[in-house]
Amino acid sequence: RQRERAKLVDAHAFTAKVYHYILRNTAAGTPAMDYLRSRGLNDKLIEEFGIGYAPARWDTLTQALTRNGYELDEMERGGLISRKHEGDGFVDRFRDRVMFPIHDGDGKFVAFAGRLMSDGQPKYLNSPESPLFSKSRTLYRLHEAKGAIRKSRQAVLFEGYMDVIKAWSAGVANGIATMGTALTAEHAALLKRFADEAIVCYDGDDAGQAAAQKSIPLLEGAGIRVRVGMLPGRMDPDEYITENGPEAFVRETIEGAVSAVKFQLIYLRKSHILLEEDGKIRYLKDAIRLVARRESPTERELILKELAQEFGVSLDTLKQDVVDVRRQEK
Ligand code: CTP
Ligand code: MN
Ligand code: MN
Ligand code: MN
Ligand code: MN
Repeated sequence: RQRERAKLVDAHAFTAKVYHYILRNTAAGTPAMDYLRSRGLNDKLIEEFGIGYAPARWDTLTQALTRNGYELDEMERGGLISRKHEGDGFVDRFRDRVMFPIHDGDGKFVAFAGRLMSDGQPKYLNSPESPLFSKSRTLYRLHEAKGAIRKSRQAVLFEGYMDVIKAWSAGVANGIATMGTALTAEHAALLKRFADEAIVCYDGDDAGQAAAQKSIPLLEGAGIRVRVGMLPGRMDPDEYITENGPEAFVRETIEGAVSAVKFQLIYLRKSHILLEEDGKIRYLKDAIRLVARRESPTERELILKELAQEFGVSLDTLKQDVVDVRRQEK
């Protein structure tokens, strides 16, 4: 087991080198280089993130692994190659994709994500679960970000690889991402070893906002304070940085991140029609339930003051509502 894991890590490191070499030094890699540049990635970023390219062929990696003495059965279990559907033998798993190496928390190569350069499905192909790699326990770039996270006790949590990379280039060194799956309790527990606060910075579209909403109890459940970085429209961090520049991103989205409860209230608004009296009442009811869950009396009072002002209700009334809810929920 131990030996197989070590062999697979070694094979992933080798594979990352092969793909990186193809990207940087061969004609086959030129369209991928053009693609990466068109997305705003310069040579320095491509090196820093070890990005590569898997050519549009069936046997590039399979042959390279064979020539270098790797056991193909073992490589298949590690998800680097696939068994042929018909007949014997193996084929490359990743074809015509820009390749992002993925490391475990210690910096060992454990998986890849491969992005198509044109529209098509799936947009990202990830390595399968393997003896080395479990999506629900892996945070992209944790190995590089953990120094900065430890120092500030704060992490910025993104949805996508490109978001982490672009944020890194904007000076956000404590950025990490899940791997296309929802944040898990395991992710949160892992993160808590390094961070006391997370800034959740998911995409501005409905899916991203819903995922941000779900991440709050998970992170708080692990003892991590949450703030949420918001983006205008349906942009994701990568798009925002491209459009508005790194300074605006750091200032507006990261430094301007709102508290968890503020975000929950903003989110709640979308499902209520506040122009109507009963819509207002229902919104306030739900809002009070959210506020009642906050443990800090100061935090509760600050939010209630804002609600009181906005809706023309007295602070005392809202406080009483919160007391009632807290009593019921005990
Ligand atoms: N994802 C995935 N498989 C897909 C689509 C998405 O694993 N078919 C994961 C990837 O980790 C991706 C993240 O979900 O980075 C967020 O998805 P999305 O917002 O759609 O992609 P972006 O990160 O914005 O990708 P890009 O900017 O390259 O289009
Ligand atoms: Mn290089
Ligand atoms: Mn998204
Ligand atoms: Mn996105
Ligand atoms: Mn994107």
